Amino acid sequence: CGIVGYVGPRDAVPVLLEGLHRLEYRGYDSAGIAVAGEELQVVKTAGRVGDLRRAVPEGTGGPVGIAHTRWATHGEPSDRNAHPHVDSDRRVAIVHNGVFENSDRLRNRLRAEGVELASDTDSEVLAHLVARSSADTLEDAVREALSRVEGTYGVIVMDVARPGELVAARRGSPVVLGVGEQEMLIASDVTALVRFTQQVIYLDDDEIATVTADGYRTSTMDARSTTRTPTAIDVPTAEYELGEHPDFMYKEMREQPDAVDRCLRGRLDHRFSSARLDGVGLTPQDYQRIRRVKLLGCGSAYYAGQVGAQLVEELARIPADAEPASEFRYRNPVVDPDTLYVAISQSGETLDTLAAVQELKRKGGHVIGVVNAVGSTIARECGHGIFLHAGPEVSVAATKSFTTMAVALAMLALDLGRVRDLSITEGRRLVTGLGELPHTIAQILATENDIAEVARRYAGAEHMFFVGRVRGWPVAREGAQKLKEISYVHAEAYQASELKHGPLALINPDMPTVVLVPDDELLPKNVATIEEIKARGGPVIAVTDADLPPGLATDVIRVPRAHDALSPITLSVPLQLFAYHLARSLGRDVDRPRNLAKSVTVE
Ligand code: G6P
Repeated sequence: CGIVGYVGPRDAVPVLLEGLHRLEYRGYDSAGIAVAGEELQVVKTAGRVGDLRRAVPEGTGGPVGIAHTRWATHGEPSDRNAHPHVDSDRRVAIVHNGVFENSDRLRNRLRAEGVELASDTDSEVLAHLVARSSADTLEDAVREALSRVEGTYGVIVMDVARPGELVAARRGSPVVLGVGEQEMLIASDVTALVRFTQQVIYLDDDEIATVTADGYRTSTMDARSTTRTPTAIDVPTAEYELGEHPDFMYKEMREQPDAVDRCLRGRLDHRFSSARLDGVGLTPQDYQRIRRVKLLGCGSAYYAGQVGAQLVEELARIPADAEPASEFRYRNPVVDPDTLYVAISQSGETLDTLAAVQELKRKGGHVIGVVNAVGSTIARECGHGIFLHAGPEVSVAATKSFTTMAVALAMLALDLGRVRDLSITEGRRLVTGLGELPHTIAQILATENDIAEVARRYAGAEHMFFVGRVRGWPVAREGAQKLKEISYVHAEAYQASELKHGPLALINPDMPTVVLVPDDELLPKNVATIEEIKARGGPVIAVTDADLPPGLATDVIRVPRAHDALSPITLSVPLQLFAYHLARSLGRDVDRPRNLAKSVTVE
């Protein structure tokens, strides 16, 4: 979800709507706005920010306001469950990201005290608790109310009885203050602020801020004041704009050569045929002590972690594996001092990944981040790691972040390998291979029309398999994920070797299979897989950098050959285009797939 707040000389409504529009990718099943003029004006609606814009009556306005886009956790998406929530006297309005876990208990207690609740949400309790507080200041009232809730929050609170100020607080859900000229903004993501200011402050967990047009004051939840100075956002504003592109997913796929180039810049060490990853903060001696590598992430970041684990094993010969961060945090993991833990996240805000990092730190694990968003919570919590420098990624489906995650992990694997048995010659081949990636990816993007044509041919399929072996396996998983999330076609990934142990039963002329065929030592095995599928009448789309015998597959998507170890990166790019064009031909809104959010800051 996304939250925005404004206080200053302008009318808050257009500023808030613009901020919400920028946050829309985070989740969009409802949206709302509250402005304090003479009295509290609240407009909310199920649907998108465009629906809200149309619903705001002429004349709504004022110098202070808060707004929200919601991704439902408690209560169905509807007008009444949309934020902002207000107290019974319509004095206090709140917007909340996160989950109040004890809301049932608090709701019952409020009901017992005679409060009528207007929604089914966990968040509404905060408005009532703040309104019922007898504290002197709004900040203390919010502090008192938040001391009664359990769970996570990024909140903004407004009180018409105390005009000209907003109070924001965070625990586990991001809050950024934007410092302007005689105006202040608050948001859950800098994206909402960039149009208005470049000076920001990321609140820490358990920090609370009071914001007026003239400035801000921050303190801890237990009322010790903190000193925060704004930092400048390091990304040009133009990067948040669509420009001439039809949607953000397209723009971000197209940006991949540049994104990979930025990710590599200054990091390839030609002298030692290695990588220079200063941010990781480990010496060659530290590297030598590492006995295992464990990679953690969610969604595409998890699949990128699988690519990374494969690279670490292959290049550094260190046992490595990837696991969804969400599973890791809940299974009381054995945390080992000789393991390097790697937390992977585009946004740096995914709650499950953050919680895994915190659990690791508590148990003495050494964890580094592979993160895109500088200043994000996971980046700050890890302290060390590799920034992706991919630029802002807006579309829900990960594209350039996935590619750069794999590139960053390839550099880490190379670095780990070069203090072990990876020879200087092999290291050099890899450095060259990495350096060639931007050009190779540009060549793949140039074949877009051919890929689009293949994709359109399969747009009628209801189900699809994606299969691959070893290097191709995480690519198959990411390819299936891309297709299902943006086209809603049911796609399932399998290890190619596992097909015959069950899924082959489903192969028939209506079940196309995408087979990943890297030109490596497993090529004959993958050719055999294609034969097996064909023998059962299943159409096959081969995605390959090899010369396949003519007529072997029904359709072939061919990419230029890369270094063997890097083929997962080059083979995943055409699968993005495949999913994109298939989804577009079904008329899907690729940037905002139903039910999904870009950054999942709830459990
Ligand atoms: C969400 C998004 C996915 C993304 C995952 C992890 O589920 O829809 O596209 O891969 O979160 O996000 P992160 O920001 O941690 O990489």
